[in-house]
Amino acid sequence: MLSYRRQSSFAPILIIGASVIYLTVLYFSSRCTETSDSNERPLPLPPFDHSAADMSLVDKNSPFIFIGGVPRSGTTLMRAMLDAHPLVRCGEETTVIPAILAMRAKARGNAREAQRLDEAGVTEDVFNGAISSFIIEVIARHGEPAHRLCIKDPFTLKSAQYLSKIFPNSKFVLMIRDGRAAVHSMISRKVTIQGFDLKNPRQCLEMWNEAIENMYNQCSSVGPERCFMMRYEELVLYPEAKMRQLLTFLDIPWNSTVLRHETFIGEGKEISLSDVEMSIDQVVKPINLDALNKWVGQFPADVVRDMAEIAPMLRRLGYDPRAKPPKYGKLDELVVRKINEINENEIKWPDRANMLMVDPLRLDRPFNEINNALW
Ligand SMILES: *[C@@H]1O[C@H](CO)[C@@H](O)[C@H](O)[C@H]1NC(C)=O
Repeated sequence: MLSYRRQSSFAPILIIGASVIYLTVLYFSSRCTETSDSNERPLPLPPFDHSAADMSLVDKNSPFIFIGGVPRSGTTLMRAMLDAHPLVRCGEETTVIPAILAMRAKARGNAREAQRLDEAGVTEDVFNGAISSFIIEVIARHGEPAHRLCIKDPFTLKSAQYLSKIFPNSKFVLMIRDGRAAVHSMISRKVTIQGFDLKNPRQCLEMWNEAIENMYNQCSSVGPERCFMMRYEELVLYPEAKMRQLLTFLDIPWNSTVLRHETFIGEGKEISLSDVEMSIDQVVKPINLDALNKWVGQFPADVVRDMAEIAPMLRRLGYDPRAKPPKYGKLDELVVRKINEINENEIKWPDRANMLMVDPLRLDRPFNEINNALW
């Protein structure tokens, strides 16, 4: 008994000691790999040599572009289109940026926590500096340097106000889509998203409503000078008109390459696609209208009946909650041409998707596995 107690009083010291030894070993072993011992497996080469000059141009005053929205609302399409522009680089979803924003919200979430941090010298200024350095590092280094850097992580738009403060020259693109289509998409494609119960369409619509309301309010408070609301339906119906509008808003010169994003994926200027982005198989197609009306007839009768009450944001955003489907708009000529192209190449696109993704199972891999692990 006595010896047990004595041991337990040593326990903290032992733990600290063990940690120090562990960290020391870790430090030296990492140094060993740096000197590339021939017995060690070689470290994979970084995908791009980021020169110091390129990095030093990126700072908190850079005109970053943040793309967000409720998942399944066209955020991947949006960023693929911008990625096709020679002056822009979005790159893959990072997932760590929403995670650090969530951490910040938690850490300074209430007055008491904030006061404790202030007393420790971690003032709001210090905190914001650290968060912005982290975000800048991730944006700048997860892909190639470019004239304009953009970041697509659906949930970042929940923090648009905060981001607009720490990055005074940043701009935001909020993707808005009929919630019934977004929810039907996540359910039918089994896209797990934190908070959404895919077995319960009513609950998913409520979650959609909550998320889009939050983002819509954030975007509105940032103001139309800095936050652009892009309707997915309009983007696929009038791609040229909408992209011209968007590029003007972003102060980026027009280039028709944005309308041919599908020809860039996997060739030429690389639009790289990550494992966690669920929408890849769709993005390798040209823009198409497949997705607009798929949800019609897919919701239970009671959900259809209560639609206006379940998701009041539908009406607020101009989507008639009773119509099935609402009139989203008239087709433009380019879209008709693209639809014909898809029909003529029935076999080509899925093949191409498989070819680009190496593992065809990725087509149905739940996106956000990584997100869920982080949160
Ligand atoms: C558009 O982008 C292409 C590909 O980078 C480039 O060759 C072309 O000059 C650009 N056009 C304009 C008008 O900037």
